[in-house]
Amino acid sequence: MAFFDWNDNMSVGNQVIDVDHRKLILYLNEMQEAMMAGHGKDILGTILNRLVAYTHEHFAREELIWKAGRYAGLEKHKKEHADLLKTVTEFKAKYDKGTISLSVDVMNFLRDWLKNHILKSDKEAAAAIAANALGGTKPAVAARPAH
Ligand SMILES: [Fe+2]
Ligand SMILES: [Fe+2]
Repeated sequence: MAFFDWNDNMSVGNQVIDVDHRKLILYLNEMQEAMMAGHGKDILGTILNRLVAYTHEHFAREELIWKAGRYAGLEKHKKEHADLLKTVTEFKAKYDKGTISLSVDVMNFLRDWLKNHILKSDKEAAAAIAANALGGTKPAVAARPAH
């Protein structure tokens, strides 16, 4: 069993987003393995950089999808993303300076954040835009003449 296992319950029903989430989980697992193997700062730093860069990319991609789907909770969702990025960026700055190191606590925090965010916020957003898409066809049908 990996540090963080994907399960089908985590699917938000959008392939682009699911692929991104699986990739983030993969990177987290790689980081955990590298840490447990006692790899040095050069290897861990590279993996951390990749994880942070991909998180940026994923959030941007996902926000466009929620926006295109007219998700009413977009601003709140973007704030959750921004808060995590701020935390991670601060962590990375300290890590680069050597004042903090990767730890089980940090890894658990990242895993739990991602898992909870996917299961709650991302799934909620995906369900809302799916409902918007369905709702969007109703007025057109209702506007048709009855005969
Ligand atoms: Fe996401
Ligand atoms: Fe999200």
